[in-house]
Order: sequence, then structure tokens, then C-alpha cells
Amino acid sequence: MNKISIAIDGPAGAGKSTVAKIVAEKMSYIYVDTGAMYRALTYKALEENINIQNDQALADLLSNTAIELSPSKTGQLVIVDGKDITNIIREDAVTNTVSTVAAHRLVREKMVKQQKALGQAGGVVMDGRDIGTEVLPNAELKVFLVASVEVRAERRHLENIEKGYASDLEKLKKEISLRDQQDSEREVSPLRKAEDAIEIDTSFLSISEVADQIYQLANERMGD
Ligand code: CDP
Ligand code: CDP
Repeated sequence: MNKISIAIDGPAGAGKSTVAKIVAEKMSYIYVDTGAMYRALTYKALEENINIQNDQALADLLSNTAIELSPSKTGQLVIVDGKDITNIIREDAVTNTVSTVAAHRLVREKMVKQQKALGQAGGVVMDGRDIGTEVLPNAELKVFLVASVEVRAERRHLENIEKGYASDLEKLKKEISLRDQQDSEREVSPLRKAEDAIEIDTSFLSISEVADQIYQLANERMGD
């Protein structure tokens, strides 16, 4: 049977990476977390004191950075220049600057090129902000996940508590809203739903309900 491509987009905390991973595993497809790639570049820029307003400097940095996404039992490892940075790229320093880095034109051109190459053979579930619109515009299945900002902040809050981190729900709400705004209002490939994407509001759905819906849609598309 032909392998299809599945694009999953949506704002922070809508459940993209959690369900993308499940669907990819169920279908024995590759999972590509494109947000992790922007986070990896942001991490390296902060480490090397690169001006995050300087598109050219960031694009040059990206050219000299090897970003590797490697499947593991606990999800996906993010390896940069041979170093495992999976956990550190989820910390506030990166989370609160990644949207500035990701807004730059040259950075996005290079990233999109790398992501298209990862998806070119099909059999891929890719999640991000511009997958259905820019990276995989011909994906057989495009899904746009949404959820209220309250629910999304609450999810991150619970995640933090589970990890034993200090967490402030109101602060999370503000940070998520700001990132949504930056991602939606940027000039270069802003976060938006592709015309042919199916929107799923995950606010009151469990992880397995969302994953099942996408898996079912994928099977329908494979039958087309
Ligand atoms: O997991 P979470 O939704 O918090 O974020 P992420 O998917 O790790 O993405 C982090 C940031 O990278 C987003 O807020 C966007 O600014 C940027 N991003 C992007 O611009 N385009 C993508 N395809 C994926 C992420
Ligand atoms: O990738 P994205 O930022 O869109 O979201 P995520 O990191 O996959 O999910 C954020 C949190 O919401 C995780 O802790 C998930 O377990 C949780 N989640 C949920 O409670 N219900 C869903 N339907 C989807 C995700």
C-alpha cells in the first residue's frame, strides 16, 4: 500500500506532537517534529551569543549546524552536533525566544528545505505551523488542531507539575497567547490552516480520541 504524508499544524499545546507520535507509531511512519528544529537552532544561537534579530547570522549558523531527530522509546531525541539537547530545548529560555528566530525569512527558507527533504519519500507524519501550507502542500492528509488558550495553558501547567517544575498558570497563558500572536502575525509563512485541512478542536477530547480520528482519516485517504 502507498505511504501517504500527514501534515499536522496548530498553535502551541493543541496536542500536535503527542498525537503525531502516536499516529506515526501506529502506521510505522517517520515522525518529524519541526518545532524541535526551530528550538534546536534557537538553543544554539543562545549558546553562541548570536543576535536573534539577525536573519543572515542565524541562517549561517543553521548551515553549520547538524540537527538530527532520532526516534527513541521515550519519543524523539533531538541531537545537535552530536549533543543530546532533547530536554533543554523545552526550557523557558528557548520557548520564549523561538518565535523570534522562526520569524526570519532566510531561516525559514533553509528549514523548509530540510523539512521537505525529510518528507519527500512519504510515510511521514510532520507537525508544526506551516506543514500543510509550505512544507508538504501536497500532503494527502492535513489536520489543523486547535484548543482554547485556557485548555492549552492548563495542559502545559500539568506537564510542568508532573516534571516537578514550578509553574504559574497565568504566566503560561500569557506566554502561549504571545507566541500564538507572533506565529500568526509574522510575514513569512504564518501559522494558518491550509484550505484543505481538517480542523479538530481537541479542547474536550482525550489524546487517544484525537489520535484515533487522525488514524481513521489517514486510512480513508489511503483508500482513495
Ligand atoms: O510544542 P510547542 O507547540 O510549544 O512548540 P513547537 O512546535 O516546539 O514550536 C516552537 C516554535 O517554533 C513555534 O512557536 C513557532 O514559532 C516555531 N515553529 C514554526 O515557526 N514553524 C514550524 N513548522 C514549527 C515551529
Ligand atoms: O505539540 P503541541 O504543542 O501542539 O502539544 P503537545 O505537546 O502534544 O501537548 C501538550 C500537552 O497536552 C501534553 O501534555 C499532552 O499530553 C496534552 N494533551 C491532552 O491533554 N489532550 C489532548 N487531546 C492532546 C494533548
